[in-house]
Amino acid sequence: MKITFIAGAAVIAAALGTYAFTRLPDQDPQIQQESGPTEGAAMVVVTLPESLSPEASMGKRAFDAVCADCHGTDAAGKMGFAPPLIHKIYEPSHHGDMAFLLAAQNGVRAHHWKFGDMPPQPRVTPAEVRTIIAYVREVQRTNGIN
Ligand code: HEC
Repeated sequence: MKITFIAGAAVIAAALGTYAFTRLPDQDPQIQQESGPTEGAAMVVVTLPESLSPEASMGKRAFDAVCADCHGTDAAGKMGFAPPLIHKIYEPSHHGDMAFLLAAQNGVRAHHWKFGDMPPQPRVTPAEVRTIIAYVREVQRTNGIN
């Protein structure tokens, strides 16, 4: 259901973008299509915990350095790049900690979304991925994803 909602939101956002474009005739349509207003935008609204555990703080630093380029600031997703990890699909019972370790080690075949494959992430060690998991889980819990 959430995916449908996000897809719907994306369609609305795209429609709004088109509307905005029609209001700005001096902009090149080619540029609009390649870097449209939704490209790079966050996909979900993320509430941050008031504080993070020491492990999760380390995880946040690693996440910001390596994963946020695609999964967005606060793992809120990034239009055109990668999905939000603060999402029910990635709750612990559906994507356990092993899914994160395997994703970083081997990459991920596109299967839930249309962003394409995730390449392996050799810049993070398994120990760093464990801290990233702690970070993502703490933020997930703050957003009601358990
Ligand atoms: C180059 C872009 C990119 C980077 C960098 C990236 N990811 Fe991903 N990731 C993706 C995409 C795209 C998907 C969605 C694949 C799909 O369609 O299910 C994904 C999916 C995932 C999944 C879900 C795995 C599954 O089993 O479905 C996890 C967990 C994940 N990423 C964690 C991370 C972590 C942790 C990092 C940083 C170490 C990271 N990603 C860096 C693009 C990226």
